[in-house]
Amino acid sequence: MRQADRDGNGGARRWVPEGGGIDELRREAPGCRGCELWRDATQVVFSRGSARARLMLVGEQPGDREDLAGEPFVGPAGRVLDDAIEEAGIDSRSLYLTNAVKHFRFERRGKRRIHEKPAVGHITACRPWLEAEIAAVRPSAILALGATGARAVLGRSVRIGEVRGQVLEAADDPAIPVVVTVHPASLLRRRDAEERRAAFRSFVADLRRADELAD
Ligand code: URA
Ligand code: SF4
Repeated sequence: MRQADRDGNGGARRWVPEGGGIDELRREAPGCRGCELWRDATQVVFSRGSARARLMLVGEQPGDREDLAGEPFVGPAGRVLDDAIEEAGIDSRSLYLTNAVKHFRFERRGKRRIHEKPAVGHITACRPWLEAEIAAVRPSAILALGATGARAVLGRSVRIGEVRGQVLEAADDPAIPVVVTVHPASLLRRRDAEERRAAFRSFVADLRRADELAD
């Protein structure tokens, strides 16, 4: 039997308190054994922001810095995201920020921990937490950051380039409109300064669109 099966036995479901508010979910999340990722991670990284937010942002998974801090979006990608939120004129206190997967997945290379994309099985295993967060916060709109966030929110795999600009439906609640954009880390990977600026502007425009939908 694979370790994931032994741990997970059907993913996070049995660790997620039914009907729990965000505080209760946050309290229980450290005990989750829904997949094997908890073993090598420092700690669970749950969410930050307002439990009564109108707009929810869903990223991929915590990175190295988030794993150490226990808070999402506090590393380099988070800095880009914060800049974009400010540029869009959005009050960050009106947001709820979370990830599709709550534990850091990485590969050790010497002393370094290299980010590794979560597998579909990790996204599926962790999805009960996101479902519970959506049910607790009841946001008016969701912005998915990147393919992993989009997969978790939409319940299917999409190509960012194809669905960007569209208004889609959350898998758990079709009444909640979903906008999909790139992951902020992808902006950091652009070497050309002009391209990076253009990509940042498009990202800010997506944030604004999602914020307007949440009004
Ligand atoms: N990237 C994410 O998707 N989430 C984080 O919390 C940090 C980086
Ligand atoms: Fe549970 Fe998600 Fe962590 Fe896996 S990644 S142990 S499902 S919280």
